Amino acid sequence: HLAYVNGHYAPHQMASLSIEDRATQFSDGVYEVCLYLNGHGVDFTAHMDRLDRSLAALSIPAPMGRRALALVMDRLLIRNRLRTASLYLQISRGVAPRDHAFPKPAPAPSLIMTAKRFDCDALKRQQAKGIAVISTPDLRWKRCDIKSVSLLGNVLAKQAARQKGAGEGWMVDADGLITEGASSSAFIIDQAGCLRIRTLAADILPSITRRAVLDIAAQQKITIDHRAFSLDEAKSAKEAFIASTTAGVTPVISLDDQMIGHGQPGPITKAIISRHWDHMQ
Ligand code: PDD
Repeated sequence: HLAYVNGHYAPHQMASLSIEDRATQFSDGVYEVCLYLNGHGVDFTAHMDRLDRSLAALSIPAPMGRRALALVMDRLLIRNRLRTASLYLQISRGVAPRDHAFPKPAPAPSLIMTAKRFDCDALKRQQAKGIAVISTPDLRWKRCDIKSVSLLGNVLAKQAARQKGAGEGWMVDADGLITEGASSSAFIIDQAGCLRIRTLAADILPSITRRAVLDIAAQQKITIDHRAFSLDEAKSAKEAFIASTTAGVTPVISLDDQMIGHGQPGPITKAIISRHWDHMQ
């Protein structure tokens, strides 16, 4: 497998970043995970727009223009003979002697990319089964809207889930409301059949799959209630699901070992999953 590092393609074991890269010392960088199905980038423009916003928020210059970046991404897939793949892209402020403030003069930003085969059948199996979710405190910083590589809070939330045999950790804020998953957005369908979601703000990532789900819900005439929900509200929901680029829309069948609905993927979630596959084609 070949990775891309600052203009070069190299096998994964050989590809490396400097020990003085700002990403390693300060998590001073941003990333995107993009999904390609049959060579076509799903919601590609939305991912590139969000990347630009993340870069701008941290005043990191884009290492190249958008068209050039898209070409490198395509090239990486072609060189790896991949058509259905997830692609990880990371841009950091670059390499400079360790000092917290932005280095002056500004170094060239570092750009790295990796790609791996994406197994649609495995995702479909997981969507058919659903996943268990646990709750865990949201320990993150106050700019979770930036897709930065500073992910320790997310790492701890996912690990807490893993240790309990769950597939995702839903993070709970100081008010007892769920923010989002460790690496996905969080949704419930309440007893009235309304889709409940938290409003976009600095405390959650503007998920691209979330946007797609909202569009689908609107088409399906599902009422959308932009209101954060508590852990208890989630536990008594009719249905629940997560959404992300690599998990698509995946049903949640339990929360902290309490069954959601009948403990099986619900009908509204299943309808959204089917529409979302159509959307991704
Ligand atoms: N994670 N919330 C968080 C904290 C995330 O890390 C992600 C994505 C999402 C969903 O965003 P999107 O729909 O744009 O993928 C929400 C990626 C997949 C990851 O870190 O691997």
